[in-house]
Amino acid sequence: GAVAGVALALPAERLVSAVVGSPPAVQPFTTPLPIPPVLSPVYSDRGTDYYEMTAKPANVEILPGTRTNMLTFNGSFPGPTIKARQGRPVQVKILNGLDNVTAVHLHGGNVPHEDDGHPLDVLQPGQTRTYHYPNIQRAATLWYHDHAHHLEAEQIYRGLAGLYLIEDRTDSPTLPRGQFDIPLMFRDIALDDSAQLLWNNNDSARRNIVLTNGKAQPKLRVRRRRYRFRLLNASNDRVMSFRLSNGAEMVQIASDGGLMARPVRRTEIGLYPAERVDVVVDFSALPGGTQLVLQNTVGDTPATKDVLQFEVAGGARRDDDDSSVPAKLSVLPPIGAPVMQTRKVLLSFDFKQGAFLINGKQYDPNRVDFTVKKGSTEIWEITNADPDPFAHSLHVHQIQFRVLDRGGKAVEPWEAYPKDTVSVPSGQTVRILIKFDSPFTGLYPFHCHFVGHSSMAMMAQFNIVP
Ligand code: C2O
Ligand code: CU
Repeated sequence: GAVAGVALALPAERLVSAVVGSPPAVQPFTTPLPIPPVLSPVYSDRGTDYYEMTAKPANVEILPGTRTNMLTFNGSFPGPTIKARQGRPVQVKILNGLDNVTAVHLHGGNVPHEDDGHPLDVLQPGQTRTYHYPNIQRAATLWYHDHAHHLEAEQIYRGLAGLYLIEDRTDSPTLPRGQFDIPLMFRDIALDDSAQLLWNNNDSARRNIVLTNGKAQPKLRVRRRRYRFRLLNASNDRVMSFRLSNGAEMVQIASDGGLMARPVRRTEIGLYPAERVDVVVDFSALPGGTQLVLQNTVGDTPATKDVLQFEVAGGARRDDDDSSVPAKLSVLPPIGAPVMQTRKVLLSFDFKQGAFLINGKQYDPNRVDFTVKKGSTEIWEITNADPDPFAHSLHVHQIQFRVLDRGGKAVEPWEAYPKDTVSVPSGQTVRILIKFDSPFTGLYPFHCHFVGHSSMAMMAQFNIVP
């Protein structure tokens, strides 16, 4: 499961990375892992939960004893977690307290197009707007983030992202839950010597610290039992690949779109930007005091390699743990035939224009790239035409697709389940099967989720028509 191809770096970025000041040194594994706060509804009625958030600048402690100026939701980085229930609608009222426009996109959400946070459908500074999320899809680990056109890379980098979990009480009730169900949002960052963000869209190579839930190399004390971890790579442009330092298995139970039909045991898990996996890790066989590290095998500095330490608490006794991972996790809706369209999606960097392109074109919000019939099934054949190190991915709004094959070979089992973002390494062709089975029609984007690329126009859009 290792990832082929590392984070994109333009040749010029390599030069930039040679001239950096150094941030205050990170003391590994001293800061406790924070869990992002769960947002409470301001109001609930029989049908809906109502939330409010303000996008605003705030000072946040990233490195101990320092304050970093970030852009946040409600002053929190990562943003607060919204916990929604499958089948129960949520409304989120956003106040834009930034100096810039913003649009909030629920990544992976099956939502009406007017609630999708389209890149040009923005909130002006001082404006409020309510997004309606119907939560009609399967339970899943989703996330929300800024999506304002050309600004998303910088605004996500500065902190505008948080988790949105759709939960379903009937789905596999034996999985670890409550305090044993922990989200892990990973992303990289570069800080100057006063712990302020260094920002340049093209300098991904110098983002030399990976944060987990907003802290550098934190530590989590775990009990001798099973945990569910929801991993999200929220980096702009960094590919990661995770393994436990003792080589132990992580049992993957969910992909972007929710629980898989059956669990898959893995020892290394690659995640491109915006991809999620839920895993169950069993610490019960490890004696109290054991320390192990969640490592990113494609990291390039100590603070991007050793991202999180687990320390097993307690003495000789195992915890009473009645959780388990059932052999059958979920029943997936059928998808597939007949396929009405096959389309090609070519991802490339144009060295002459210095532009990222889809099918040879830069994003034009006034152009409809694909017209799609509601209810139909399509195959999209996505090719990364660029040489190494230009990795790309494809994220399609509104739907969850299935990955069919890579370079003509059927994908590994963990990739064959519902996903909304797929990796497309240099030189590869990946085919995905999409059933447009949402009740919603209208215009939605699809784009590379290296947001350094999408913000430079590696984006296109489809229009779903009745
Ligand atoms: Cu995660 Cu179009 O976005
Ligand atoms: Cu890309």
